[in-house]
Parts: sequence; C-alpha cells; structure tokens
Amino acid sequence: MKLWGGRFEGGSSEVFEQFSGSLHFDKALVFADIEGSQAFARALAKQGILNAQECDELVRAFAEIAHEAKDPAYFDGANDEDVHTFVIRKLGEKTSLAAKIHTGRSRNEQVSLDTRLYLRTCARTLLRQTADLMSGLLELGRKYPDAVIPGYTHMRRAQAVLWRHYLLAYFEMFARDFERMEQALARINVMPLGSGALAGSGFPFDRDEIAADLRFPAVTRNSMDVSGDRDFALDFLYACSMIVLHLSRLAEDWILYSSEEFNWMTLGDGVTSGSSLMPQKKNPDSLELIRGKSGRVFGDLTALFVTMKGLPMTYNRDMQEDKEPLFDAFRQTSGALSMALAVVDSVVLDAAKPAAAAEESWVIATDLAEELARRGVPFHRAHQIVGRVVLESVKAGKKPSDWTAEELMNCAPEFVPEMHRFLNPAEGMKSRELPGGTGPRAVAQAFAEAEARLAAMRSRLV
Ligand code: ARG
Repeated sequence: MKLWGGRFEGGSSEVFEQFSGSLHFDKALVFADIEGSQAFARALAKQGILNAQECDELVRAFAEIAHEAKDPAYFDGANDEDVHTFVIRKLGEKTSLAAKIHTGRSRNEQVSLDTRLYLRTCARTLLRQTADLMSGLLELGRKYPDAVIPGYTHMRRAQAVLWRHYLLAYFEMFARDFERMEQALARINVMPLGSGALAGSGFPFDRDEIAADLRFPAVTRNSMDVSGDRDFALDFLYACSMIVLHLSRLAEDWILYSSEEFNWMTLGDGVTSGSSLMPQKKNPDSLELIRGKSGRVFGDLTALFVTMKGLPMTYNRDMQEDKEPLFDAFRQTSGALSMALAVVDSVVLDAAKPAAAAEESWVIATDLAEELARRGVPFHRAHQIVGRVVLESVKAGKKPSDWTAEELMNCAPEFVPEMHRFLNPAEGMKSRELPGGTGPRAVAQAFAEAEARLAAMRSRLV
C-alpha cells in the first residue's frame, strides 16, 4: 500500500520499490509509531476531526496492532513502503476511520517523532547499563583496596598508582559518558508533531498538550528545522561512540594485563574461549570483540554525518538512511556494555604481580627526585641526580630495593638517610594526597565521592 498515488498514472517500478522500501528495518519503530499515532488521534479529536467515539475506536485499533506486532511473523510478506504505511494499512483492515488519521500530519514529522520515541528508550537503557558498569568497577576496586600497580605512559612503567585509582580513571570516563548520553536524551526528548511536512500543520493543534500526552518535556520551535534535522540522532551516535571508545581502551588494557607477559589478572572462564588447535589457549575474545565492535559504532556515526552533510533544506529521502546506523549503534553499544560488565565481574587480580612490577622498575624515580626538591635541591639538579642512580642501576642490574641509604648518599651528597623509604612505591604515593592524586587518602575520598555521585546519577534515571 501507498499513502499517495492520485497524482500518478503509472505504478512504481519493482526496482524502485525494492530499492526505496524501508519496512524490513524500520519495522523496529512499529511500537513508537503506534504510540505516537494514538496521541495524534487524541489531538484530532480535540480538533473536532474525530468525535470521541471515533477516537476511541482508532486508539483501540492501534492497540490491537501493537499486540499483533509482537509476533515477528506479523510483517511476513508485507511490501509496504515503510512502517508508517504498514501501520495505516493494518489500521484500514480494522476500521474505515483509518482514512482520517493522517489529517494535518506528514510522515516527515512522524518519522522524527517515532525515532525520538525509540531513541529515548535506547538512551535510558544505555544510561542504566553505564551506571551498572560503573558500579561493577567500584566493586572491583573494593576487592583490592591496597593493590598497587605501575601506571604507564608510552606503554613504559611510569609511576606507581593504586589499583583503585586506575579504576576510578575509567569511572570518570563513564561518568562523562553518562552525562553525554543524558545531554543527547535532552535533545532527543523534544516533541515535533505539528510541524507538518515542513511549514507547520494546517490544523491548530495544541502542541504542548500532545507533548504532555507523550511525556515530552518540550516541543520543537521550527517546522522546517524538524523536517531537516537529525542532530538528535547524531548526538545519540556520538554518545554511543564515546562509550565504546572507552570500553575499547579498557578492553585493550585488560587484554594486555591478562596476558602471560603481564600476568596480573585472570579473566573468568565464562568470558574467554579456547583454540580449536592449541589446547593450552584461553583467549580474551570478549574483550577483543568489545574493541572490534567499537569500530562499527564509529562507522555508524560517520555514515550519518556523511549522509547529512550536503542535504538542502528540508527533508530529503536520504534521511531514511539514519535508521540502520542508529539501530546498529544501539545494539552494539548495549551488547558491549553488558559484555564489559560480565568481564569486570569475572576479573581476579593477582595483586602481588603488579606490585612486583612496580617494585622492580624505577617507578619511584619521580618520588625520589621530588623528595630531594622538597628538601631544597633545585628540581633540575634532583632530576639529574636520580637519573644517575637509575643509570648506574641499569648498568649494574640493581633494582631500587637493592640500594642502601649509604649507597645513595655516596652517589650524591644531597641524599639523606630518611629518603631511603622512597625506594618503596607505596611510600612515594603518600606524597600525592592532593585531590585527584593517587595518595591513599585522596583515593579513599575519591572512591567515597564516586559512590555518592553514582547514587545521584542513578536517582536521575527514570
Ligand atoms: N520512510 C521515510 C523515512 O524514514 C519516512 C518519511 C517519508 N517522507 C517522504 N516524504 N517520503 O525517512
């Protein structure tokens, strides 16, 4: 069926119908389409286009379609142009009033409404999942409150940090992702009906009333903007992209940390797989797929960017190409968040391993140089002195704990016996107690704040 045709003498060619039809993917919007159409029927009743009884009949018919559409086979064999057309055809099979439902409404605003209704549910799901992952990270931190790991720059051991400090770094990334998704939701959650095809509807709908009916906190302000706008979809894709970007970096870290070379942590059997040939293998496929699927989501964002960039105002059929990237990005992001949470829950840290990695390398060099500086040695000189100690150690194959206080003092007169304690990574960390640092008290404070912040985020979820 088509929602147009009077102006045509010939029918559509098969190749055009095949090429342009979107029902096979936009059927995912069927429940949103029905919810929006029920509200629109109520708006038509307010306009006197439908009487109360007709409105009830339409709303009921839509509800029946929603019920029937739960069965995926409902769409079998349908060759309607899109989901909006499909729903109206089904409505026509139930009531002759179907011919009135499109009064003063365009598919251009309808598709905007449906996509917004659909995405706001997706955004809320992802918000909840992001919060759950953040809870998982805090739980993993609670299991190893004192564990020390070497932090890296350039993939070289840099300075010692608490395991909890490392996890809180990811907590911050996901906290920003949560806020970003909330911001995307705020732009999604605006009611477009009343815009007509591009110029505003020819019927004076009470748009605020429709918005209230569909639980939108705001209405759009310009009908042309509505027809040509997919910013809200791009905001959603960008918010998804940032989530999977952060998940991908976490995955990369843990692929390394669980390798035989690092050997810091074990991933649960439930999130790893074996090799068809090599019996000893336990591969981190879950993390690799999180890393891999992130590329798809960036592709989804890029695809819609490119689709939109040259479109003249207002609606163009190109915009139908927004759906598959949106659906894919949601599915991949949601899947990656669930997978990541399962991995986080499965991780067993062998805290002695990263502690040994911190102790046997020169991650305390900065601590030592800064302690010299605190005692009045100009920092450049302190840097030079400690650099010499490291060079000598490298040549002699010594680790920090091999040095005695006397040996340090023989190396440079600026050393004093009390500095010897800085050869232990856990000591130097105590000098980093400012907010945001890895000092144990600062981290305990940050951890408590993270718990409170997460509780506040959760309270904003609906
Ligand atoms: N299937 C279309 C889409 O997803 C619906 C809007 C159709 N509007 C039109 N003027 N052809 O964009």
